[in-house]
Amino acid sequence: MNILIIGSGGREHALAWKMAQSHQCDQIFIAPGNPGTANIGTNLNIQTNDFSSLKNAALENAIEMIVVGPEDPLVNGIYDYFAADEQTMHINVIGPSKEAAQLEGSKAFSKHFMQRHGIPTASYAEFTVSNYTEGIEYIKAHPLPIVLKADGLAAGKGVIIAFTHQEALASFEEMIQNKQFGEASSKVVIEQFLEGIEVSVFALTDGINYQIIGHAKDYKRIGEGDTGLNTGGMGCVSPVPFMDDAFMNKVETQIIKPTINGLQSENLVYKGFVFFGLMNCGGQPYVIEYNCRLGDPETEVILPRLQTDLVSLLAAADNGTLEDVNIDYQEASFATVMAVSGGYPGDYKKGFVISGLAEAENVIGTLVFQAGTAFKGTDIVTNGGRVLTTTAQGKHLQDAVINAQKALSCIQFDGMYFRKDIGYEFKS
Ligand code: AMP
Ligand code: GLY
Repeated sequence: MNILIIGSGGREHALAWKMAQSHQCDQIFIAPGNPGTANIGTNLNIQTNDFSSLKNAALENAIEMIVVGPEDPLVNGIYDYFAADEQTMHINVIGPSKEAAQLEGSKAFSKHFMQRHGIPTASYAEFTVSNYTEGIEYIKAHPLPIVLKADGLAAGKGVIIAFTHQEALASFEEMIQNKQFGEASSKVVIEQFLEGIEVSVFALTDGINYQIIGHAKDYKRIGEGDTGLNTGGMGCVSPVPFMDDAFMNKVETQIIKPTINGLQSENLVYKGFVFFGLMNCGGQPYVIEYNCRLGDPETEVILPRLQTDLVSLLAAADNGTLEDVNIDYQEASFATVMAVSGGYPGDYKKGFVISGLAEAENVIGTLVFQAGTAFKGTDIVTNGGRVLTTTAQGKHLQDAVINAQKALSCIQFDGMYFRKDIGYEFKS
């Protein structure tokens, strides 16, 4: 079958790499893709929210399956757009309906959902301009630190962890009165700070059944030792040492099952990936957030670790046979390390020539996934904050990290930076 992947990051490069291995896959198209995906399939110069052009491309290229990488098109209703059109309703679009995508698109929606289904999460309250003064009182009486979240999508920047009441009040004012994140912060969720270690767990669901397809620990801060500003993710390891059977059992019974049952009981149409952003608080899992897509760079470790054919798995989610699929993982540990532009996540320059890609790809057992890259003549140049990632495996987690760094050391561009401590807390 012909497959269309929507997006242009390392996640979409990893999806294309994995799906191309399937005997069920004929041609792969990526919209808009990047120079890395161009080596695997055909890039289409269409933006991720241009649904009518995506529809035309899908019809022209006899697409039978669409995998949506980023959240934006899902929250904007791409699933419903294809499902409602007679010409495209036969296409297996992997992603939730617009309504169900609110699990990621609205923090308040997801908190209400968790509350209705008894899913462990931080305690919270929500405020708008109409109960603004109550919000001020709520913050003043709240123990520190305080977590403030813009309700809507804010490109990963909508969460503020305030360590003083003054800071929390200033952020609250910025978000609601000064519309710091536009409409997205017209409502603010204020919640309890959860102390623990984060882990991302990924399931694929057809809205009734589910399969866990992997988990990973993402390193989100720019600086070593988890310091400095938040980023989209600087590296990942999988599997995570504390994800033993006892903890996974709690995750499944207390979080995954009630979530899938909740979707079903509320008639929320969901055929796609569920990303459970969890906090392990002393052995008890809590949901920090839901995302309605795969993570980036989590995908760059979970797909190399997954042995099961991804195209068959996604077909099973469409034809009601998800329950019968066997999920197999490689024995090895996997790590991915992200190379970013100097200055990221603040301002950075683009257009620097990237050298050493072929050398890095020749390091045995290593994969290079491109993200913020572009063609410039015969060169590949930097074109974003997160530029590319190398994924490697090893017997132990630390071997995988060392191998990923070894591959990265072949690559150069002006201002290149990466964290050298991915997996640091699991050093034996
Ligand atoms: P998000 O944008 O929802 O992914 O949140 C960004 C980051 O903020 C998360 O990855 C966590 O590290 C942190 N965070 C969010 N909510 C909480 C919370 N309730 N307690 C502690 N940390 C949090
Ligand atoms: N790496 C975190 C995310 O994809 O949201």
